[in-house]
Amino acid sequence: MQKAEIPSIHQEHQVDRNLVEHALDLLEASRTPRDEPVPLKEGLELPEVMPESGIEAKKMLDELASSVLETSAQLHHPGFMAHMDPPTPSVAWVASFWQAALNQNLLHPDVAPKARFLSERLVSWIAPFFGMDGGHFVPGSTVSNLTALWAAREIKGVKKVAASKMAHLSVRKAADILGLEYLAMDSDPLHQWHPDSDSDWTDTALFLTAGTVATGAIDHLKSLPSAPWVHVDAAWAGPLRFSNQYASLLDGVENADSVGFSAHKWMYQPKGAALVLFRDSETAHQAMSYGGGYLSAPNIGLIGSAPASALPLAATLLHWGRSGLSDHLNADMNKAEQLASLIEEHPDFEIWGPCRTGIVVWKPKHFPAAEVRSRLKKAWVSLTQIDNETWLRSVAANPGADPEFVFQQVLEAANIR
Ligand SMILES: Cc1ncc(COP(=O)(O)O)c(C=O)c1O
Repeated sequence: MQKAEIPSIHQEHQVDRNLVEHALDLLEASRTPRDEPVPLKEGLELPEVMPESGIEAKKMLDELASSVLETSAQLHHPGFMAHMDPPTPSVAWVASFWQAALNQNLLHPDVAPKARFLSERLVSWIAPFFGMDGGHFVPGSTVSNLTALWAAREIKGVKKVAASKMAHLSVRKAADILGLEYLAMDSDPLHQWHPDSDSDWTDTALFLTAGTVATGAIDHLKSLPSAPWVHVDAAWAGPLRFSNQYASLLDGVENADSVGFSAHKWMYQPKGAALVLFRDSETAHQAMSYGGGYLSAPNIGLIGSAPASALPLAATLLHWGRSGLSDHLNADMNKAEQLASLIEEHPDFEIWGPCRTGIVVWKPKHFPAAEVRSRLKKAWVSLTQIDNETWLRSVAANPGADPEFVFQQVLEAANIR
């Protein structure tokens, strides 16, 4: 009995072309056509406790598909202009599939010789666009920010971190974890912070944002006062550095000591891909380098076992080139501007401010924004609170988005003809 089961268990770890094709068919079938509402289902049709015995693989995929695939938010849909979550290009998810199948661990050079090399190569492609000389992959910008401030504390002994009140909550998390005092600074009415030259920034890391989470504002990155460390959180707008039209929006970033951004936002990558970059990466990496009995190379940074997130990104960049990425970003910026024009031209809507990095903040004048959002069936927008008011927020990270369609859906939801 035992012997008969071993080959079948082993079989599960071979390439199963049939299963992959079935998974692809289900994925394709789950894509809702533009004019049909996305089906909504409460809860999951899955057992409430762990099943004792298993089911055949294709049947299992069918069950999962009806529970999960068909009712997921469709990030590629023409109506999706909501969050900083892009649909992933097929070249990226096909490479993720390799990544999952190979399961390389960056922690161990012997298990991941190529994956480590690939990650280093990708960092060396990307870092110069920000004036940095190196860095490493992390799972998200929350970790980029924490890692950068950790380096600031170790290298420059900073005791405080100052950031605008519009900065992402991850700066507060990092301050709490690192035992830094957190200074919340006022920004200008357009949410841009310009650190004051008259203040004393001794012992303080300046934490600037390129693309605030609520409105996409960029803090002043040039003419900064002297401070022991400057970090730029470019989680959202960082990739504009690769655009031939918009790179200059981030001019000044090259003077920072560290920069972080999420490839899983505006580089269209599957979740878990971000970078932390340093102007002097050797010193930064030395400050956070740990050796251990079982490691043949030091473990640098916060993460232990780490996937080769560089692989899907390499596939995307090799396929598109820098100019293809630039075209995607420029097209998204254009979509945001199209939506902004529709809003500005309509008497029953107002827009919060200029759309600078692909984020449009808007609302109907006479209808609650939150109710509009809850009524949408074929489109997605997000909500944001500004000065105790709720606004709709549309993020242009979906190359398939149709701003006119989104606007039309919101008009209908707000009972505006
Ligand atoms: C400006 C900014 N910083 C940091 C983060 C955190 O990024 P992540 O979700 O990749 O950890 C976000 C997320 O939206 C963000 O907008």
